[in-house]
Amino acid sequence: MKLTFFGHAAFGLETADGVRILIDPFISKNRLSPVKVEDLEADYIIVTHGHDDHLGDTLQIADKEKTLIITVLELAHILAKKGYRTEAMQIGGAYNFEFGRLKFVMALHGSATPDGQYAGLASGVVLTIEGKTIYHPGDTGLFYDMKLIGEMNKIDYMFVPIGGYFTMDITDGVKAAELVQPRCAIPMHYDTFDLINADPKEYVEKVKKLGIDSMILKPGESITW
Ligand code: NI
Ligand code: MN
Repeated sequence: MKLTFFGHAAFGLETADGVRILIDPFISKNRLSPVKVEDLEADYIIVTHGHDDHLGDTLQIADKEKTLIITVLELAHILAKKGYRTEAMQIGGAYNFEFGRLKFVMALHGSATPDGQYAGLASGVVLTIEGKTIYHPGDTGLFYDMKLIGEMNKIDYMFVPIGGYFTMDITDGVKAAELVQPRCAIPMHYDTFDLINADPKEYVEKVKKLGIDSMILKPGESITW
């Protein structure tokens, strides 16, 4: 398994079998992205919510014949009407895909498409793939039920929004790691707009003081397992 950070909340995964998965592929307007939209292909695209910086370039990247877009029901229906293949799930539900198990969990945030259509609830995802469990919380404010997500799932990698303004900031993101108790907390959703500039080193230091491992993934860097 290879997991690559593209900056913001965008990640790419490639399984040992060559299945390609993207999460929240915000690429063309992402000033930190190390890749171009035309270089990306995906078998699956997981979208946490409809905002432009998460739905991102999903429609440009998705092959209408081959790519399955996995998201919450209301957003899935909007995309299905445009002719895309979708898997319409909902918060609280999980499903075993060929690549692994995906569960939608709550996020404290809104969701609409870039043209303003209501797109259901914003979500986070817990993804168990090749023996490791990832928690991508999407955009979210801090909420205490993150503790429940950590109790019900042994999280290996938690991605934590730290940029503030639209999501948690460093202080709230440190508390989020304390609640979830992941094996490793990785900051995301910062420095892509001036409004959300934040220092990931400060975040990592503060999390490590709690006895939780934390690391910075620079855009373009990967974790393999
Ligand atoms: Ni958002
Ligand atoms: Mn966002």
